[in-house]
Amino acid sequence: MKNGHQITLLGTGFIGGFYTMTIHGIRGRDRIRTVCGLPRESAEKFAREWDISRATDNMEEAINDPETSLVVIGLPNYLHKEAVLMCAAAGKAVVCTKPLGRNLAEAREMLDAVEKAGIFAGYLEDLVYMPKTLKAVASVQQGALGRILWVRSRETHPGPHSDWFWDLEKAGGGAIVDMGCHCIEIIRNFVGKDIRPVEVICTSDTMVHPIEAEDHGIGLIRFANNAIGQFEVNWTFRGGMDLRDEISGTEGTIWLNHWLRTGFEMFTTGGLGGYIAEKAESDKGWLFPVGDEVNALGYTHMFQDMFKAFEEGTSPMETFYDGYVVNAIIDACYRSARTKRWEPVEIEDWRGKTGDEEEAASRPLIDGKYLLIKDETMPDGKTKRILKDVKTGEVIEKNQ
Ligand SMILES: NC(=O)c1ccc[n+]([C@@H]2O[C@H](COP(=O)([O-])OP(=O)(O)OC[C@H]3O[C@@H](n4cnc5c(N)ncnc54)[C@H](O)[C@@H]3O)[C@@H](O)[C@H]2O)c1
Repeated sequence: MKNGHQITLLGTGFIGGFYTMTIHGIRGRDRIRTVCGLPRESAEKFAREWDISRATDNMEEAINDPETSLVVIGLPNYLHKEAVLMCAAAGKAVVCTKPLGRNLAEAREMLDAVEKAGIFAGYLEDLVYMPKTLKAVASVQQGALGRILWVRSRETHPGPHSDWFWDLEKAGGGAIVDMGCHCIEIIRNFVGKDIRPVEVICTSDTMVHPIEAEDHGIGLIRFANNAIGQFEVNWTFRGGMDLRDEISGTEGTIWLNHWLRTGFEMFTTGGLGGYIAEKAESDKGWLFPVGDEVNALGYTHMFQDMFKAFEEGTSPMETFYDGYVVNAIIDACYRSARTKRWEPVEIEDWRGKTGDEEEAASRPLIDGKYLLIKDETMPDGKTKRILKDVKTGEVIEKNQ
């Protein structure tokens, strides 16, 4: 597509700024033409700053702008469903920020609406598009780590930047719905998105802030192939934004530290006078600046994938269906936090693998009777081999 896309952006806040910076920056031919935000003056200011021709506070008018063909939703969580349903009614392609819905019921309605309308729809889960993550997922898919056993994803910071995030009703929850959605989708990408999440156990609490929602949550997700996902999220962490992932397989390990050890470490007593990186708490002392924030956070690769899929009539890497599965897992987490038990993940419309997912690993026998448990080279240079007799179950060791 030579002329690029003419785009409507809903929401001119924090994420609206990042999306605009990315869209105007990457291909040089896509433009936001209409923005919608509240109050109208703030949308007008945003439009002036980004050289955007139209600003309004009326969502319907912005979506139905005949000169735009794609709507980007960067609105607070409680407006995602309404905006998506309006796009479906208008027959406009739509991409929506995370989380897709405040809960599974909203996500289901949104998924059904776009599929019924036959419009292009993408889920803007930027953190799976971080360049490091894309490369790590590709390595896992090539089998570099063997069978994936455990994936840990952590996102913590001192808390979000706008009032509505802290309102249980408007956000749909606290740290779990806000940041657990990122971690869960990162975990699914490493385990395999076609592997069914079966059940979860989750603990949550409100530890620091005077709010109704949780500011702290830890959850385990058991997948159909027995892989375990572990997420840790909170709005109580001090020291900036801690974004880390660990992937553990039968043949290898990956550790990713995305934000507090970026390879760019600086100490200053004088300070840099303001913004350093998302959720950095100080501009003095030890700092971890980020060279190219929109790229490091995945926005560049995410919009490239969305535009390419839209132009080619294919599916982007992250779809509304993915957002729906994430909401199903989050709903189960909130249930588990209340019941303090493992709770099933209720996905009535599962589209991945079914049945016995895991192929029984056929392991070679040693000396016709043993399975290898482990080899280890000892300080004296000899190798100890620990074996299990398949018939008797006895565990023995042999020096090599
Ligand atoms: N990494 C990410 O992908 C990421 C990061 C931050 C936020 N988000 C998501 O983006 C969404 C917005 O978050 P934010 O941080 O930009 O919030 P924000 O508070 O900074 O901005 C919200 C914007 O929505 C506009 N708005 C509110 N009500 C409106 C209405 N009725 N009509 C039109 N505009 C209205 C406001 O004017 C404001 O411009 C949330 O769903 C959040 O979860 C995603």
